[in-house]
Amino acid sequence: MLKKKRLNKTYLVTAGPTHEKIDPVRYIGNYSSGKMGFAIAEQLASRGAKVILIAGPVALTINHPNITRIDVISAAEMYDQCLLYFSNCNGAVMVAAVADFAPVVINSQKIKRTTENFILELKANPDIAASLGAIKRKDQIVVGFALETSSDEEKALAKLRVKNLDLIILNSLNDKDSGFVTDTNSIKILNSEGVIFTSGLKLKTDIAVDIVNKIIETEDFILSLA
Ligand code: C5P
Repeated sequence: MLKKKRLNKTYLVTAGPTHEKIDPVRYIGNYSSGKMGFAIAEQLASRGAKVILIAGPVALTINHPNITRIDVISAAEMYDQCLLYFSNCNGAVMVAAVADFAPVVINSQKIKRTTENFILELKANPDIAASLGAIKRKDQIVVGFALETSSDEEKALAKLRVKNLDLIILNSLNDKDSGFVTDTNSIKILNSEGVIFTSGLKLKTDIAVDIVNKIIETEDFILSLA
């Protein structure tokens, strides 16, 4: 068996959903459990890396001396924390399912039920992965996820380019037992040239090993060019 290299590096990992407040009792959210992001954080830490884990609202615990967990609620908070830590990191793995929109106004009182239709005005949230992609140095790697309702490599590649990512992990919500809340996943990893890895259905903890292996390979390649 190949001896695993100890990682003397620091990574930023985002995980889970974000919740965008509507009023004191309601929010816009999604079904992300955070399991994939936490598994990647754990895998990086177990290989010796330091991890800054920026977690949205999830029901998960993590306990590793190399992991510093920062809990956030909204996309704006996740964005602020990522920008605070990124420059001191060797790489960022953006696993969070960040809400695309947030209400323009957060009502201070619970919005009352009416018989009329109710229109909620939404504004676009910042794209955290694209923001880090835009400011990354030559020695930093940024990895994103593309969750599609069909296994669409072209869409994933387009995202990789637009966000200036080094790798993108494609997972399809149509693949049985893959996606948000399951313990298993089935992924493809793409770089700018196309698919470089296909996992088949596996536990998220095993997928995390595959992803970290590819991150290390890609980093070694990027650093050899620098
Ligand atoms: O564009 P889309 O939401 O499909 O992109 C998914 C990738 O971008 C994921 O890596 C996700 O964590 C990241 N993302 C982000 N900030 C957003 C939206 C997505 O970091 N506002």
